[in-house]
Amino acid sequence: MKNFVSVHDVSNIAQLVGIALEYKANPYSGNSLGKGKRIGCLFLNPSMRTRLSTQIAAQNLGMEAIVFNVGQDGWTLEFEEGAIMNGSTVEHVKDAAPIFGKYFDILAIRTFPTLQNRDDDYSEQYINQVIRYAGIPVISLESATLHPLQSFTDIITVQEQLRLHNVVSKPKIVLSWAPHIKPLPQCVANSFSQWVNAWGKADFVITHPEEYELDEQYTSGATITHNQDEALENADFVYVKNWSTYHDYGKIKSVDPSWMLTNEKMKVTNQAKVMHCLPVRRNIELSDEILDGPNSIITQQAGNRVWAAQTVLSEILKTIS
Ligand code: CP
Repeated sequence: MKNFVSVHDVSNIAQLVGIALEYKANPYSGNSLGKGKRIGCLFLNPSMRTRLSTQIAAQNLGMEAIVFNVGQDGWTLEFEEGAIMNGSTVEHVKDAAPIFGKYFDILAIRTFPTLQNRDDDYSEQYINQVIRYAGIPVISLESATLHPLQSFTDIITVQEQLRLHNVVSKPKIVLSWAPHIKPLPQCVANSFSQWVNAWGKADFVITHPEEYELDEQYTSGATITHNQDEALENADFVYVKNWSTYHDYGKIKSVDPSWMLTNEKMKVTNQAKVMHCLPVRRNIELSDEILDGPNSIITQQAGNRVWAAQTVLSEILKTIS
């Protein structure tokens, strides 16, 4: 694995999930792989789980992890080619990224979309510029359109549940839109769709109100419906997430509270496990009764972030050791 920015960087998802579950059983089994190696984790946006799990994963592999909050701890970066830098940005990525390449063996970066200009966001300019100029492997800690470490974690979590309950048949996985008070990126929903489709071991249904269609390049292959009750029928997993509109870009068109998952809605499922990437707005996106109830696996899911990050790091380390 050279970089990790989308599912296209993975040749065999099932094999990667197996490695992650082995790391979960034996966290220090690769503790010499990263000896003498250093990862730089650049954050242009806030994070709790991604930041901590990546640091723990690096430590488990014997690596040093340095976290740098770009724009807070250091200079604000410019990403536009040919920019006349007479505004708020102080340093161009062309100048900064090669230096990261000298300081670190692997670079990881979180960059959110602006939600202002779809073409700019979907061009993934920020992370692509970093890959272009850093000259070392780059891991996405969530980019403008995708969150691959989260999605890999999500597949690990589903597979773990299937093993735990000795399920051999194809599970039904439902991605259900939920209300939110702020326009959020489409990253988690895009990425989850991309990974579930590529994994190919589930019946995958996406449900959302009209006008919340995602980019087809990620959802193609899934069944898409605006009828949430119908989608939930016989579901084994319900992945809850808000996202803003893709077509009329970055907007909130509905905050219909009836889309929030409740125990009543869950009655038609196959006692489905409920997933969410977190953070979650309680009683807006997801009800207390679901989050605090027996079907929620969100804590296990967030715990698995460590094994996803550790697996990706170890796969990259194998190529640079
Ligand atoms: N799910 C996730 O990426 O969480 P953080 O934003 O806290 O890293």
